[in-house]
Amino acid sequence: MEITNQEFNLFRVYIEEVSGISLEEEKTYLIESRLKGLLDEFGCHNYGELYRKAKENASPLLRNKIVDAITTNETLWFRDKGPYVVFEQMFLPEMVRQIAAGKSKVRIWSAACSTGQEPYSLAMGISEFLLWHGNGVADHSHFEIFATDISSQALSVGELGAYDQLSMGRGLSDAYKMKYFKQTGRFSIIDSKIKKMVEFKEFNLLNDFGALGTFDAIFCRNVAIYFSHDVKVQLFEKLRNILRPGGIFIVGTSETLSYYSKGFKGMEFNNYPYYVS
Ligand SMILES: C[S@@+](CC[C@H](N)C(=O)[O-])C[C@H]1O[C@@H](n2cnc3c(N)ncnc32)[C@H](O)[C@@H]1O
Repeated sequence: MEITNQEFNLFRVYIEEVSGISLEEEKTYLIESRLKGLLDEFGCHNYGELYRKAKENASPLLRNKIVDAITTNETLWFRDKGPYVVFEQMFLPEMVRQIAAGKSKVRIWSAACSTGQEPYSLAMGISEFLLWHGNGVADHSHFEIFATDISSQALSVGELGAYDQLSMGRGLSDAYKMKYFKQTGRFSIIDSKIKKMVEFKEFNLLNDFGALGTFDAIFCRNVAIYFSHDVKVQLFEKLRNILRPGGIFIVGTSETLSYYSKGFKGMEFNNYPYYVS
């Protein structure tokens, strides 16, 4: 079944409405191939029918399934290294100093966490850091990692904390594999102490951030690249509003805020970029 231009355009608008993801004209094949499986599943003869069902919200499941199919959940452990150098060598020492001075909670948000590698990398980084530099004042209970994504399918992997060998082979040192995972059949299960540090929740970045509270560090990496200029501007402004004074904001290596936000200030630590507000 081929998707017509008209059906493609309807889905393009729908997908941007529900997720912010902006698809270019040449992505016809992507929509067609990724949504193909849903035609049978939802008893539709063509993409137009599928669109109408989605638009009328005929099945609450359908919207989630379209989002799961369209989102790109590519991720890996300690992705790009630089952000974790900034986090572990610059941010965490400062947080431990603040904890010693009375700060009760350090809140970190992994704002498009996909299958959990990003928030768990942060949790492992914190755990290692505390072992050597907790100074008897900071422990796991001072850190809270909030991990969100729009894709319920991706989140379910993180919530389970079980990774196949392919995922385990991407970015994890042997030492961390041994220390923080237990092999069970085909899967490696994340250590329960690390798992307990992360709270997963479904959350759409288009939504209002009012109920989230404020954060000391925000990782919003490799997601805004899918959004239009206007959606990026709104997103970065909302993020700036919930970043605590002195907090850090980290985007993907290929991303920059220059065209989208005047409120953030670009900084560097050991040549690795991060932002403050
Ligand atoms: C390429 S992954 C990036 C994962 C991780 N941050 C990293 O850099 O490795 C992009 C993630 O953004 C999520 N996403 C896309 N649109 C979103 C939205 N509107 N709200 C929340 N998450 C969204 C996708 O589901 C996907 O898991």
